[in-house]
Amino acid sequence: MVVLLNTRILILLATSSFLTLKLCFGEDRITFSTPIKDSETLLSKSGVFRFGFFTPVNSTARLRYVGIWYDKIPVQTVVWVANKDTPINDTSGVVSISDDGNLVVTDVRNHLLWSTNVTVPVAPNATWVQLMDSGNLRLQDNRNNGEILWESFKHPYNSFLPRMTLGTNNRTGENLKLTSWRSYTDPSTGNYTAGLASFTFPKLMFPELLIWKNNVPIWRSGPWNGQVFIGLPDVDSLLFLDGFNLVNDNQGTFSMSFANDSFMYHFNLDPDGAIYQRDWSTRGWRIGVRFPSTDCDAFGRCGPYGICNSREDPPCKCVKRFVPRNNTEWNRRSWTSGCVRKASLRCERQSNVSNGGGGKGDGFLKLQKMKVPINAEQSLANAQACPKQCLDNCSCTAYAYDRGIGCMLWSGDLVDMQSFLGSGIDLYVRVAHSELSE
Ligand SMILES: *[C@@H]1O[C@H](CO)[C@@H](O)[C@H](O)[C@H]1NC(C)=O
Ligand SMILES: *[C@@H]1O[C@H](CO)[C@@H](O)[C@H](O)[C@H]1NC(C)=O
Ligand SMILES: *[C@@H]1O[C@H](CO)[C@@H](O)[C@H](O)[C@H]1NC(C)=O
Ligand SMILES: *[C@@H]1O[C@H](CO)[C@@H](O)[C@H](O)[C@H]1NC(C)=O
Ligand SMILES: *[C@@H]1O[C@H](CO)[C@@H](O)[C@H](O)[C@H]1NC(C)=O
Ligand SMILES: *[C@@H]1O[C@H](CO)[C@@H](O)[C@H](O)[C@H]1NC(C)=O
Ligand SMILES: *[C@@H]1O[C@H](CO)[C@@H](O)[C@H](O)[C@H]1NC(C)=O
Ligand SMILES: *[C@@H]1O[C@H](CO)[C@@H](O)[C@H](O)[C@H]1NC(C)=O
Ligand SMILES: *[C@@H]1O[C@H](CO)[C@@H](O)[C@H](O)[C@H]1NC(C)=O
Ligand SMILES: *[C@@H]1O[C@H](CO)[C@@H](O)[C@H](O)[C@H]1NC(C)=O
Repeated sequence: MVVLLNTRILILLATSSFLTLKLCFGEDRITFSTPIKDSETLLSKSGVFRFGFFTPVNSTARLRYVGIWYDKIPVQTVVWVANKDTPINDTSGVVSISDDGNLVVTDVRNHLLWSTNVTVPVAPNATWVQLMDSGNLRLQDNRNNGEILWESFKHPYNSFLPRMTLGTNNRTGENLKLTSWRSYTDPSTGNYTAGLASFTFPKLMFPELLIWKNNVPIWRSGPWNGQVFIGLPDVDSLLFLDGFNLVNDNQGTFSMSFANDSFMYHFNLDPDGAIYQRDWSTRGWRIGVRFPSTDCDAFGRCGPYGICNSREDPPCKCVKRFVPRNNTEWNRRSWTSGCVRKASLRCERQSNVSNGGGGKGDGFLKLQKMKVPINAEQSLANAQACPKQCLDNCSCTAYAYDRGIGCMLWSGDLVDMQSFLGSGIDLYVRVAHSELSE
């Protein structure tokens, strides 16, 4: 049963912390006959998460949002928001099961502000909503063994919690991503998204973790090799991957998740466009890793065929045997136009000759400890056959081989490379034979 607050506590609530609520409620469900008002909340069974109305800390607008936050923590930490772009400007809001069985947020005039919007026809008294200790909010069908009709874990917002999954949803074909808040005090939809890069079927690409700003990539992790993302600088990767897993069925479905016994541990896409891994200590949220972590992590900073090294100044240089496309820009520390070959490839020069002879006479330059470029294509070639497979195809510009991944091939410009000190793998860049000696 949901207990109603008296007016005095209500006033207190408007000004004081979320902890006040803990004393008042223990209910973890909403049913048709038990909606919740602005002053009421749900608490998950073991008291980890709370669901209800909130106003972001430090927000000057007194807008009311419905969301999920950590209950045991004295710092407001919201992990999911329902009506993020349709807040209520007073405390008249209600969360209830509507006549069609969906969970809805409405205001005093009974305007629909948000809905789980499940299209299967359901009767109002046939569904209920439950807040789980994982932070997942579920809409379930009690006629059908509690079939899950909708869950917040399948509609992620800014936080990635233990046991949640990002990536392609096999049922809907949707790619589940994180989205940032607009600002630290404004939960409305921000400009950043993060998730696994879309698969371009039938070309098999390796899924990577990306951050986009207005759909333009600004950071990438490098491909997953079964244990780590191989494009993360040095120390970060180990910290990052506690309990982390990425599954790629090579059929167009790939997903990532992580398990951690501590539910006070999550990844968040912040309004500044960076992913933070945080865990709770008695002194507050402790940041484990942040992506991007260096200036060199900015996507494509040194342009095509440019290599970024965060330990050097200037950070950008061209791949050996390549020169800046525009020296004027390069000397002004504007690197994004990148580099071009000094000597064109033999196979390019022969491409008008119908001998199908491929690139005999081209070879490879070995670059060590590299963050490999974006858009690696998967080949089934083994370690010995990988270089030949690249050489035999004139559009192949580089290859790399990693035991956990196999043979990776690139065609076209090589973009977003970095040179690391400890991590990274060997990358072999195709150059004309004449460039190999010296
Ligand atoms: C709210 O503002 C105070 C004072 O500026 C600051 O210390 C605190 O970190 C802010 N809280 C959040 C959640 O932004
Ligand atoms: C709240 O919003 C409604 C329209 O959505 C508007 O009519 C009303 O004046 C607003 N109230 C306040 C206090 O801003
Ligand atoms: C519900 O979904 C339908 C289509 O699936 C969409 O057109 C509609 O805008 C959605 N309504 C809400 C309130 O999200
Ligand atoms: C659900 O509602 C229908 C019609 O409103 C009613 O006949 C039925 O008894 C209700 N079932 C339960 C479990 O309350
Ligand atoms: C979804 O998963 C099933 C079983 O795991 C598989 O057979 C099917 O091909 C997958 N569908 C897509 C679109 O990947
Ligand atoms: C988000 O992007 C749009 C379009 O580029 C821009 O107008 C807006 O100012 C950006 N908002 C923030 C908060 O950066
Ligand atoms: C859970 O997170 C903590 C850090 O908060 C870490 O020390 C621990 O190794 C993690 N556990 C697992 C199983 O990954
Ligand atoms: C090099 O860049 C400068 C500044 O953007 C531009 O004015 C100039 O035309 C460029 N030169 C070439 C050869 O593209
Ligand atoms: C190939 O032939 C086309 C037209 O015949 C010509 O424009 C192009 O420059 C040639 N390419 C090379 C690399 O010689
Ligand atoms: C060469 O590589 C391109 C780009 O990956 C690919 O589309 C093409 O099919 C390949 N050609 C051969 C003969 O393998």
